[in-house]
Amino acid sequence: MSTLGLALTKNFLVKHTKLRPAYAIVLGSGLGAAVDWLDVESAIAYASIPNFPKGTVPGHEHKLVVGRTPGGVVVAAFLGRVHFYEGASMREVAYPVSVAHALGARTLIVTNAAGGLNPDFREGELMLVRDHLNLIGDNPLRGPDFPKGRSRFVAMRDAYDITLLGEALASANRQHITLQMGVYAALSGPAYETEAELRMLYALGADAVGMSTVPEVMAARQLGMRVLGLSVISNDAFPRRRKQPSEHSHAEILSVVEQACPNASNLILDLIERRA
Ligand code: HPA
Repeated sequence: MSTLGLALTKNFLVKHTKLRPAYAIVLGSGLGAAVDWLDVESAIAYASIPNFPKGTVPGHEHKLVVGRTPGGVVVAAFLGRVHFYEGASMREVAYPVSVAHALGARTLIVTNAAGGLNPDFREGELMLVRDHLNLIGDNPLRGPDFPKGRSRFVAMRDAYDITLLGEALASANRQHITLQMGVYAALSGPAYETEAELRMLYALGADAVGMSTVPEVMAARQLGMRVLGLSVISNDAFPRRRKQPSEHSHAEILSVVEQACPNASNLILDLIERRA
């Protein structure tokens, strides 16, 4: 990932879409339908975008769609992401955020499926990320200066925008959507956690655990973007209560996420349109 490489990616995309997004939305596994309200102007497969990281996980469509909300707000939605556990570098994982920023987006909504550690959480509920624990063991800001001229020493306190958190809570309230709030712990994966690891995470203050999101949030904060993080609690990872990892298949997790999709979709749309 270089500044020149990013310019090439941007040049390609501005030829494929006339729209300049205000919002970037990264949609995790099974969450593609969360932007089904989008009036799509262009859909571009990741595989055709120069320098774009290519993913390997089923359940992801792996395309960038640019379009308008019914109220006319321009959104760039990344359907599917590449994960650190697929072998990509943290910079590659976060690259879509750099691209969205280069296209004009100044707000990032990042979503994921996560295991619930907080005993009050139920499968299929949504959780607003109010903070995170980066336990991946790497950082997208590490390495040569990229993007050029941006500090590496980025503040991560208040990474999740307090105004957006308030607006999301108000939106959920209006729509009678149960919205939890908590700390998201990101691990590299791809293996699920041991019992001891789950206890450790809970003791450390994590409410949910997953394998994504943090790289994108760090890149976005380096670029000065506002961030909202939204997790779908796809399985109960509370120590002891949780099923054995072998008992929950990727397909099972996807099906819980897909059922939660309408709530995520309504929440995101309402949030964006009320801010416009
Ligand atoms: N652990 C880690 N990542 C996850 C989980 C989990 O239980 N569920 C969804 N992503």
